[in-house]
Amino acid sequence: MAEDFHGIRTLAIDIGGSGLKMLVLDEAGTPITERSRKPTPKQGTPENVLAVLKKQITGQGSFDRVSVGFPGVVVDGVAHKAVNLDPGWDGFDIAKALTGITGKPVRVANDADVQGLGVIDGKGVELVITLGTGIGTALYVDGHSVPNLEFGHHPFSKDRTYEECLGNTALKKAGDAKWNKRLKNAIRIWDRVFNYHMLYLGGGNARKISFQLPANTRKVPNIAGLLGGIALWRV
Ligand code: BGC
Repeated sequence: MAEDFHGIRTLAIDIGGSGLKMLVLDEAGTPITERSRKPTPKQGTPENVLAVLKKQITGQGSFDRVSVGFPGVVVDGVAHKAVNLDPGWDGFDIAKALTGITGKPVRVANDADVQGLGVIDGKGVELVITLGTGIGTALYVDGHSVPNLEFGHHPFSKDRTYEECLGNTALKKAGDAKWNKRLKNAIRIWDRVFNYHMLYLGGGNARKISFQLPANTRKVPNIAGLLGGIALWRV
């Protein structure tokens, strides 16, 4: 447990559209604290989210560095767009703000990119799709991704995007059966377009999948969004 570990500790944070999650990882990326989860504030402004994170962080004990998965475009620690949080994040320097709070170095990446780093095997073409409030996408070749792919905002059906058809709002509106049918179609398209050797489906709504997945498709646990945080410090 945390008290017995004397190496470098990484606080991994996953900022989600509905939950703010965190835990501390040892150097091998194994959790050494219990995962904490708080609801994302309804008004998901940087100020409101950071106020919750600040309190949550105090419950995680000591750490040396921080990794963050953010549900939007991130370049050099700065957020550029987060459609499911708040427009106030556009241009907000997340790394700087969290260093201000923690006094530690902070690395930030798109949440799907981080989740992917927690599940891929690093060989050939691998696609990661997260099914949550929004649709996160990350594509890897031999373990390297083009950051901020944002394929969830591409058109899918009748001028609606993947996120508009498969995101949480769409799931609630359409119901499980219709949503599953759509996802099955989407997987068929992704397979044809990307020719990956493996597709990983993560995010909170992956548990709603009720059809038999193709052999090259695997469900992954949502905790990967935190476990992948260790990889941000390997590059
Ligand atoms: C955002 C992505 C994010 C995804 C999952 C989308 O709306 O544009 O950046 O990865 O939601 O949180």
